[in-house]
Amino acid sequence: MTQTNSAPRIDDPAWYVEQDPYPILADLRRNDPVCYLPHLDTFLITRYADIRHIGRTPEIYSSAQGMLLNDVKYGNVANSFFPEGAELVTTTDPPRHRELRRVIAPTFAGPAIDRLETVIRDKSRALIATIEPGVEFDFVEKIAVRLPVQVICALLGVDDSSVADISRWSDDMTRMGDDLTREELADIVASLGPFNDFLMAQIAAKRGNRGVDLLSTLLQAEIDNEKLTDLNVFMLTSATLVAGNETTRHLLGQAVYVLAQHPDERARLVADPGLSGTAVDETLRFVSPVAGFLRTAVSDTELSGTTIKAGQHVYMLYMSGNHDETVFSDPERYDVGRVQQPSHVAFGFGEHVCPGASLARLEVKVFLEELIARFPSWDITGPAIPIMSVLMNGYTHLPVIFHSDQSPR
Ligand code: HEM
Repeated sequence: MTQTNSAPRIDDPAWYVEQDPYPILADLRRNDPVCYLPHLDTFLITRYADIRHIGRTPEIYSSAQGMLLNDVKYGNVANSFFPEGAELVTTTDPPRHRELRRVIAPTFAGPAIDRLETVIRDKSRALIATIEPGVEFDFVEKIAVRLPVQVICALLGVDDSSVADISRWSDDMTRMGDDLTREELADIVASLGPFNDFLMAQIAAKRGNRGVDLLSTLLQAEIDNEKLTDLNVFMLTSATLVAGNETTRHLLGQAVYVLAQHPDERARLVADPGLSGTAVDETLRFVSPVAGFLRTAVSDTELSGTTIKAGQHVYMLYMSGNHDETVFSDPERYDVGRVQQPSHVAFGFGEHVCPGASLARLEVKVFLEELIARFPSWDITGPAIPIMSVLMNGYTHLPVIFHSDQSPR
């Protein structure tokens, strides 16, 4: 075999940033696509087809024991901290999972999404209006941290005065995927009390409301002819916050970063803004804002010739599937016009595929349309600081200068 014989340290944040992981992953896809990692009793899954197979086979590959690498280290992190009877959509298997998905689905389709497009355009324009041409600033702090949480507040149906609080709670919840001790994880859960109080107050205010926002939708929803409990509403709302905020933040930052690294592709997009939809999907494929998620086999099975025993874990590395050369021609090339047929797996695949995908796509597409209309070019002006995470792929600081047509270069 090859250099991949030394098990890739996918549970070490440094592994993702201190070297280029993509040649290692290409090697794994060729030579060891179901690669056993003894220190985690986990198989690393790197091929696109295997990732999709796992995603659509929840009866073998369960989410109930957790979907984070921390769940392997500490037992199911989220479930072990939340109150008795709490259900996280991310760690529920069918048939119950489908019922939970059914109640959140209307928030991400039809009139609810149409309403959000207007919000996204207005918020994007307001944020872009704060950019001074020719003046350096941190894109993450000034824009990427703000837009997703403003949109999530609109999605939830809470007003903008809660943006700062929601942002903090959501960041805390997302840190559960980080490389933390069990005590640090317990502290995060303890800090969520005020979020619970906030949501309970919103729920009381919205009861009887017929709106299409997430909280009103959940309050109107029924499972088996029963209204959802307040705990159901809390858990589904928390899941949406965790899943939708930091992910979209990193996609925004990555779009600005990757377009700056590929000025010819950016010029193509500026010349033809109709490409912004494919540019967003190409950015998702190219960077995979969520590196991967975990499943646990509930019965003995086989994948690409390797035996997996009940109780062992598989880690679907989306960032590898998205560069699988048997699916995407010239996968290391960033091409804003790439038509992906089949689609990348940046939003996962199958049973738990991201329900917020249409919202995330819309948000970044509208933002890019507004951005390039005002600023056709920009430069990264200092070190882009990557997030140290085994879960997220993005930047915590992104110094940038935007140029309008008239601004001095
Ligand atoms: C760039 C942005 C985003 C990325 C890359 C992303 C990625 C993902 C992925 C990979 C999954 C699959 C989880 C699994 O298979 O276990 C997922 C699930 C989920 N996402 Fe997203 N997501 C994004 C944005 C959003 C947004 C904007 C929302 C909502 C506001 C959202 C809500 C959810 C929820 C609730 C789940 C859990 C679904 C389930 O377990 O059935 N996501 N996301």
